[in-house]
Amino acid sequence: MAEVLEVLLWRGGSNGRYQTYEVPRRANQTVLDVVTWVQRHLDATLSYRFACRVGMCGSCAMTVNGRPRWTCRTHVSKVAGGGRLTIGPIENLPVIKDLAVDMTAFFATWQAANGVFAPSATRAAPIARIAPENAARQAADAAIECINCAVCYAACDTVRWNPAYLGPAALNRAWTLLNDERDAGNAKRLAVIADDGGCYACHSHQSCQEHCPVGLNPTASIAGLKRRAMAAYLKGEIGS
Ligand code: SF4
Ligand code: SF4
Ligand code: FES
Repeated sequence: MAEVLEVLLWRGGSNGRYQTYEVPRRANQTVLDVVTWVQRHLDATLSYRFACRVGMCGSCAMTVNGRPRWTCRTHVSKVAGGGRLTIGPIENLPVIKDLAVDMTAFFATWQAANGVFAPSATRAAPIARIAPENAARQAADAAIECINCAVCYAACDTVRWNPAYLGPAALNRAWTLLNDERDAGNAKRLAVIADDGGCYACHSHQSCQEHCPVGLNPTASIAGLKRRAMAAYLKGEIGS
């Protein structure tokens, strides 16, 4: 194992450039540890984002040697072949500075996809019980553990080409709500999902599924949305 890592870090805005740093190699070091070491020991002006360090908050995504990753759970030993790391901001979102991107457009897709639970009961109503073996609940459960990291959004080339596309994370969220029997917002949600920029813009190449750090499969969720939207259209519940 090389004693020192050669680390290229993106500095500046979208017109910035990579700058090279030397960082001591440590056992069990993560990519986020490397970025933090540079900020604490070499350049305090380096901007980047993290919170939990344990794979829960979804704020530490960066491009590492050409691939979007959650950096707090990515060990250097797995990605730094030859002792070299290239770390940049994630793609498909505007760079604010260095490794920090503006997530506004990403969260706007969640709003646009009606990714907010719409209650069908009041606070006074008894709590609905959805049995664990319920098929819709199982479909929702399989997609629910999203940490909003935008790794899939950065990996999706439809997002890159089509600014109207809602993207894998927002559509995956919509799928969980569509399968939530307590939710009352599905007519409105399905109309958006079936429209331009919705599920039919996905070409199912599975880059989102391949990169999702928590093992979700947005492609499968989007395939479910396509089936559900088509059924709603055939029943006359939504327009063409
Ligand atoms: S499968 Fe669909 S959502 Fe996933 S990366 Fe490909 S185009 Fe994007
Ligand atoms: S689906 Fe996976 S990659 Fe996409 S935002 Fe959620 S956790 Fe991140
Ligand atoms: S810092 Fe929270 S997921 Fe990486």
